[in-house]
Amino acid sequence: MRYLTFALTKGRLARQTMQLLEKVGIRCDEMNDPSTRKLIFSNEELKLRVFLAKGPDVPTYVEYGAADLGVVGRDTILEEGRKIYEVLDLGFGRCRMCVAGPEEAAKLLNGQEQIRAATKYPRIARDYFTNQKNQPVEIIKLNGSIELAPIVGLAEVIVDIVETGSTLKENGLKVLEEVCPLSARVVVNPVSMRMENERISSLLGDLYRAVSGT
Ligand code: PRP
Repeated sequence: MRYLTFALTKGRLARQTMQLLEKVGIRCDEMNDPSTRKLIFSNEELKLRVFLAKGPDVPTYVEYGAADLGVVGRDTILEEGRKIYEVLDLGFGRCRMCVAGPEEAAKLLNGQEQIRAATKYPRIARDYFTNQKNQPVEIIKLNGSIELAPIVGLAEVIVDIVETGSTLKENGLKVLEEVCPLSARVVVNPVSMRMENERISSLLGDLYRAVSGT
């Protein structure tokens, strides 16, 4: 039997996913050792390997088949636009993609005039303004601390993830529009889905039952 390989998003999502995998009987012992710098772990009995990658790289590993399955946020799936199947909503990592800014910026979201939006997610932001709102937009790509952009005058609004809303609040910004809901998803390589259908379907069934409590 060949190894089934799982790519997980490093950090909080990986920890939550490991807890879920343990619930369905998949353990990779060394992975729970907080001092480890190892990036890949295996379960010899089940012929499974799990590795940790940066979120935006997870769809890449899965598209190329270097990982059969992945767990990644829906934001990253939409932004990367890879040829992968999104097969299961794990229900954790829930948050929202939003347009945010100072309250006065709400009037600029009228679908008419050109607006400047800063974001870590240029594809999602462009798609939203162009296809949903039909509003001309200039997208400015940033890599983090996006909330700074409207405060220092780089952009009028931002398109960013809002979880508790406290980053916006502490910086005097508000949610102006909701783009879409987000959460952690399981993605699968299309060829793996065909070649390893039995193993993958049974694993997805176990995960589905564990997250839905049925
Ligand atoms: C994300 C996001 C917001 C914040 C939202 O940033 O970009 O800044 O979390 O969370 P909240 O609504 O609970 O305050 P992250 O911490 O991932 O860091 P980043 O600024 O580097 O993107």
